Amino acid sequence: MPQSANTITTVSHQPSDSSAQEARPARKVTVATLAALRARGERAVFVTAYDYPTAVFADRAGVDMLLVGDSAAMTMLGHPNTVAVTMDEMLVFARAVCRGARRPFVVGDLPFLSYQCSDREAVRNAGAFIAAGCDAVKCEGGERVARRVRAMTDAGILAMGHLGLTPQNMAQLGGWKVQGKTLAAAELVLRDAVALQRAGAFSILLEAMPAEAAAFVRERVDLLVYGIGAGPHVDGQLVIAHDVLGNFVGDVRPRFVSRYADVDDVVTNAFLSYAADVRSGRFPTPEHCYPIEPAHEAEIRAARVAGAPSACSSGSAGSAASPGSFAPPAPADAIASAGAAGHGASPAPTVGALQ
Ligand code: KIV
Repeated sequence: MPQSANTITTVSHQPSDSSAQEARPARKVTVATLAALRARGERAVFVTAYDYPTAVFADRAGVDMLLVGDSAAMTMLGHPNTVAVTMDEMLVFARAVCRGARRPFVVGDLPFLSYQCSDREAVRNAGAFIAAGCDAVKCEGGERVARRVRAMTDAGILAMGHLGLTPQNMAQLGGWKVQGKTLAAAELVLRDAVALQRAGAFSILLEAMPAEAAAFVRERVDLLVYGIGAGPHVDGQLVIAHDVLGNFVGDVRPRFVSRYADVDDVVTNAFLSYAADVRSGRFPTPEHCYPIEPAHEAEIRAARVAGAPSACSSGSAGSAASPGSFAPPAPADAIASAGAAGHGASPAPTVGALQ
């Protein structure tokens, strides 16, 4: 579409690549879709997202499920662990993701102390994620949160449990430690899974468990079982988007992470190039400037050269010398030379002259 001089260009978030469009079936993923995937032996693709563009890109790529994880504390906010993120912060992330995710099933992650204290708080906070557009919520723990899961389920909210390595009680676990490494330990996880199933959870997520232990649990419950670092024998694979994309800034490097892009380098290099262009005067060029009628341009240039007072700077209250009104006019020769070169094609002297 041709752009008029007054138009500020807008672009749709539709991909230009039609193959990407095709990978994005229109039907919203529901819990029934997830059950059907499992029944067909197909694995759900599950990634974290905390912002609108990531949700749009994941949706375009045909990702089935998005977790607005409390890992946002680390990935997005730079905290050393997950417990620092608040409910208000999580809702900002959740709303942004829900605006971008049309097809994926979105799970909102209940942050630390948003559900542990009472059933009432659990239902209120879970409900806030649903009101933000999420399809379900996730909370950490088994038997000890089963009452909360029952309360949320009774309020009509789909709840996913999170077992194995549960970062919100990292201090009790003694660090980032693999869970379920013996049959006895796997049985403890199973006991928690059964408690969640009885409480009405539709699903559990197993984190950092040996593949055999995760399979052992999955084969003994009637729940959708997803895994992050829990091997292949589960109904779907979750990854932290920043780990896959290569833009996590921090020291935690789990064994199960597979990197598919180097966004850290792409972003750093883009900023380096931009900085070099700004500093050298290669940016902006005439294509980045808004054109106006030549006659108007000439008139404005003439006014700059003459240092003529404008309507804004005339009058008693706002003289041209008052603080914050106008910079002194540039010397005529600097303006003339910039104009002759055409719209800042030789921007360094122009910028200097206008300072
Ligand atoms: O917040 C999160 O991303 C999570 C995963 C690590 C399981 O809970």
